[in-house]
Amino acid sequence: MNTASSSNRILIFDTTLRDGEQSPGCSMSPQQKLVMARALAELGVDMIETGFPASSQSDREATAMIASELRNTGLCVLSRCLPGDIETSARALENAVKPRIHLFLSTSPLHREHKLRMSKEQILESINKHVTLARRYINDIEFSTEDATRTEDDFLAEAVMVAIAAGATTINLPDTLGYTTPNEMRNLFERLIATVPGARNVVFSAHCHNDLGLAAANSLAAIEGGARQIECTINGIGERAGNCALEELVMALKVRHPYYEIDTGINSQRLVQTSQLLTRLTGMMVQRNKAIVGANAFAHESGIHQHGMLRNRNTYEIMNPEDVGWAASQMVLGRHSGRAAVEHRLRALGYLLGEEELNLVFTQFKDLCETQRVVNDSDLQALMQGPSESEGYRLASMFVGDGGQNQRASARVELSDPEGQHVSETAEGDGPVDALFSALSAATGVELVLDSYQVHSVGVGADARGEANLSVRYQGVEYEGSGVSQDIIEASALAWLDVANRLLRQRGNAGKAAAVTA
Ligand code: KIV
Ligand code: ZN
Repeated sequence: MNTASSSNRILIFDTTLRDGEQSPGCSMSPQQKLVMARALAELGVDMIETGFPASSQSDREATAMIASELRNTGLCVLSRCLPGDIETSARALENAVKPRIHLFLSTSPLHREHKLRMSKEQILESINKHVTLARRYINDIEFSTEDATRTEDDFLAEAVMVAIAAGATTINLPDTLGYTTPNEMRNLFERLIATVPGARNVVFSAHCHNDLGLAAANSLAAIEGGARQIECTINGIGERAGNCALEELVMALKVRHPYYEIDTGINSQRLVQTSQLLTRLTGMMVQRNKAIVGANAFAHESGIHQHGMLRNRNTYEIMNPEDVGWAASQMVLGRHSGRAAVEHRLRALGYLLGEEELNLVFTQFKDLCETQRVVNDSDLQALMQGPSESEGYRLASMFVGDGGQNQRASARVELSDPEGQHVSETAEGDGPVDALFSALSAATGVELVLDSYQVHSVGVGADARGEANLSVRYQGVEYEGSGVSQDIIEASALAWLDVANRLLRQRGNAGKAAAVTA
């Protein structure tokens, strides 16, 4: 009986700080890595790959800082098959309570010939030599056959056999290019675990990249084939299209537990906050429709879905948002929403309407959806209060200067106020956007503390335009605004005014005198 590969507990090896961090736009300072490592430990991962110490001073520092603080989570570092790398790795892990060195060497013909220029014999010799050397420093050694899934079957088996014989305790078979498919992955693990001498005494691990969008599916297939460690990252960050997303793997195992019968040590209720922490640290946004942690993962807009959800949430949800760290499901009111959802939201806001009144408000709601993508609570309240006397503040013109070297950025805005009067203000700030928002705030008397601010381009080429979206929270209600313009800074100003006008409408007072602070 194979003890490691038949266990029903899987090890979660998190490589957010190594494979994730080495991808474009995701680099972190040692201090940021420490903050993230604490969150990963709280989340319950079994092993954190802290970096590649031989590659940078920053990775050495981060590893040493994390090692001297985290006592209960395994800590691992990546190392090439080079004596110098191994020594540097061992030194970086000096204070770790549960240290591991992760050695890797490519085995595929493409990598042997074009990257390493090494023969098969030289590869096997190097594996033997460096795993043996690493074992002199640390007992827990993982060996990865890089590009395993494009390696000849028999040579891969030989490489794994040599690594095990030299003392590797974990064998990782990476799908480095995200090339394989679930069936192939499952067969690969089954075959190697069944045939390689010593395989039953080590833990087999999968490390799947997402080039074909199959990383989570391939990782699950590897588990079915006997893998008992999965390498993954928060939000799926990593080289190119990323790695298997930890949150997807963990929730697939949890939601489909009757099928897989596999447990992890992850506290799934911390998934969203860990994801959001990573976004804050790296600035790398998560797409709205990203499984589990994307803003739309538990948002429902279509009338049919909302109706079903209101009767029984299981109709359109396979897991509870609370189980992954969201406060609740979200019923997004928009063009596709039906009367039931509008009535439900109005009730929650305290409006109990009769049939006729509801019909009228629903018609107004549908009209509003023609000009607005999302209708939020403040919009509904405005509908219930009747037509507003004013359309709010409008941007007439703006000028923003970045200030140049050693000077603060400045902005001047000219607006027409709710009464059609001309107002203009100038302000300085830490950057152009900060200066712009300060000028708008001075001109309107509205102070917004932003929950989120995002800009992205819509369309391509000469037609491309910038869209800015921002949200604020005011008295427990979230207000969102958006603006589109050929100029991203102007789009930001429009989005800011959009939110400010909603807030002012909500207050039933579009005048400057009554200051609103969100
Ligand atoms: O993708 C890969 O092959 C890797 C190895 C270094 C494990 O990241
Ligand atoms: Zn990788």
